[in-house]
Amino acid sequence: MSERTVITFGTFDVFHVGHVRVLERAAALGDRLVVGVSADELNISKKGRPPVYSEDERMEIVKAMRVVDAVFLEESLEQKKDYILEHGADVLVMGDDWTGRFDWVGDVCEVVYLPRTPSVSTTGLIEHIAGLGS
Ligand code: CTP
Repeated sequence: MSERTVITFGTFDVFHVGHVRVLERAAALGDRLVVGVSADELNISKKGRPPVYSEDERMEIVKAMRVVDAVFLEESLEQKKDYILEHGADVLVMGDDWTGRFDWVGDVCEVVYLPRTPSVSTTGLIEHIAGLGS
């Protein structure tokens, strides 16, 4: 039987345990995990601020995970299907904060939404750390 490739996407800024768990659970759904790490420019256009860690640092951190086989830079949200086809992915995994929003790629691969880890987010951590100084 052929290898099953899983793909997932995210910013993975200020790497935390929710990121570890989603990557481990994504990897468990196949034989090979490929991760699209969103570009700094993409985050600036989406959130109006750059990530704390640069795209090179975020890719290096994600790539260092034992369960991650390959990383690439996600430069555009609209190119999801191209990335899926380019990396030969059989299944797209996203956290359930994205439920329904990627169903449109369902004609090129399976789409699975995993439950988020409760009570942790990059935004929450940044706010917490910023509050420590005041
Ligand atoms: N994720 C998760 N559990 C969390 C936080 C994130 O499963 N507690 C998942 C997201 O659903 C996504 C991936 O991790 O599939 C990358 O999420 P990202 O947006 O980079 O992390 P967040 O902590 O949600 O960042 P932010 O607060 O900036 O939205």
